[in-house]
Amino acid sequence: MAEDDARGLKKGLTSYGDSAFSLFLRKAFIKGMGYSDDALDRPIVGIADTFSGYNACHANVPDLVEAVKRGVMLAGALPVPFPTISIHESFAFPTSMFTRNLMSMDTEEMVRAQPMDAVVLIGGCDKTVPAQLMGAVSANVPAIQLVTGPMMTGSHRGERVGACTDCRRFWARYRAGEIDGEEIADVNNQLVPGGGTCGVMGTASTMALVTEALGMMAPGGATPPAVSADRRRIAETSGRLAVSLAAEGLTPARIMTQKAFENALTVLLATGGSTNGIVHLAAIAGRAGLKLDLDAFDAMGRSVPVLVDLKPSGMNYMEDLHRAGGLPTILRELKDHLHLDCITVTGRTLGENIDAMPGGWSQSIVSPVSRPFYPEGGMAVLRGNLAPGGAIVKQSAASPALMTHRGRAVVFSSVADMGARVDDPDLDVSEDDILVLQNAGPKGAPGMPEAGYMPIPKKIAAKGVKDMVRISDARMSGTASGTIVLHVTPESADGGPLALVRTGDMIALDVPNRSLTLEVSDEELAARREAFVAPVHPGADRGYKRLFLQTVTQADEGCDFDFLIPEKTGTVPGPRDK
Ligand code: FES
Repeated sequence: MAEDDARGLKKGLTSYGDSAFSLFLRKAFIKGMGYSDDALDRPIVGIADTFSGYNACHANVPDLVEAVKRGVMLAGALPVPFPTISIHESFAFPTSMFTRNLMSMDTEEMVRAQPMDAVVLIGGCDKTVPAQLMGAVSANVPAIQLVTGPMMTGSHRGERVGACTDCRRFWARYRAGEIDGEEIADVNNQLVPGGGTCGVMGTASTMALVTEALGMMAPGGATPPAVSADRRRIAETSGRLAVSLAAEGLTPARIMTQKAFENALTVLLATGGSTNGIVHLAAIAGRAGLKLDLDAFDAMGRSVPVLVDLKPSGMNYMEDLHRAGGLPTILRELKDHLHLDCITVTGRTLGENIDAMPGGWSQSIVSPVSRPFYPEGGMAVLRGNLAPGGAIVKQSAASPALMTHRGRAVVFSSVADMGARVDDPDLDVSEDDILVLQNAGPKGAPGMPEAGYMPIPKKIAAKGVKDMVRISDARMSGTASGTIVLHVTPESADGGPLALVRTGDMIALDVPNRSLTLEVSDEELAARREAFVAPVHPGADRGYKRLFLQTVTQADEGCDFDFLIPEKTGTVPGPRDK
């Protein structure tokens, strides 16, 4: 049997120079765990187990592994769980994005290195699903994504709360002096009432929904809560489907096509999804040889409305969307915007999956396309002399009054500088100013932290001001809201124009016309560019940090490592054909 045709335990034999001996040795070792020859002759489904004591968003992974195993065995194959890196947003220093590519490499290499005919990838917290999909595209072994599912909401003094939009809302109230130390400690107990991912339309929810739209997840798999029986049934189904994927050789490359990515982008826009979603989709598409076309994405956004009333753009939580029918309810409304003929992990098309899912009952979470929650897509792409490579604003979560705004820049040179000075009572700042944060991009921080949600200076917040225009090369949590311009490209640490802004400069933001302008003459900018010095990071001379700083790409390329990206063969969205 040719090496490429090998299946099950015979796949990818370790090199000892004698393939029969390699198999003999492999079987001897795995039999040490009590397997029979019958079990070892079956197709193998690997299960990427991302449980970690640091990751509450993955607290239910052990249960899900058991349910996936059940599904695999019911379909006649052998399930083999294996560990990979797990990343939690609040437990990764300096930021989770710094380790996303490491997890993608871990996933790719472990899927490729170990014998498996298909793999079930269990992720959930923000960076884990993109990392797993990036690895799956590159390994191109049949794969299906399973997410841990959203946490349930909690209750604080009679008010429904959930991570992490409410985390930020209560913290802003505390900073403004509206609530005291006792109450902020109280609500800290209620914001994450159990395991699972953030219950709003943050990055985890966004990535779950766009992954289902991509065709890489069992239908209806994005929304069941982490603690629900539905979640375990989806896990069992994922195990069964993985066995079919292995039998049919249905690889990620056949599912994650240009049109499938367009479906994912449509769902990103229609859900008011996290701005991180665009960075991650750029990275996943990049692994498939597709370049994200930001301007074409913006053009899509003009015609795809936001349909979902979830925080932070709206008022509800993921458990509400699940009760409303989950993604299939959204997809039904979007049918005219979707490529329904895309093949999915079920072996059927997206359109066939939608038709097979229950729905049609009365609900108030997903608006009909004729009466959208917001008339355009959730995100807009800005261009101008301050962001020649583009910048993103989540318009559905911004203040309408600030969408066109001209103001004086108040510049912070780094995340640390912002932390040190933003609450200084002597800071020269007014509510009409524009806060600018430099050196918070992929190379600047490094790792492009979610620092774009800059705090309103305390003395301004104390006046009851809830929003100001804020501009940076950082990212923002999908759970945050405000008139916040993000992902300014090229980043300031790479010598982008953002590095040249000085306090007192005037900046004009015009979201309707998609422009971001630094009102400084070209001559003055050229002089400032002469004096530019890139930041130096301690520890940048060795190890993973060195690899990261030398090879990370900009936000429009998904912040992937350049050596992991194949040559581009197309763009996404592609040329309009309908
Ligand atoms: Fe894990 Fe929000 S912190 S999903």
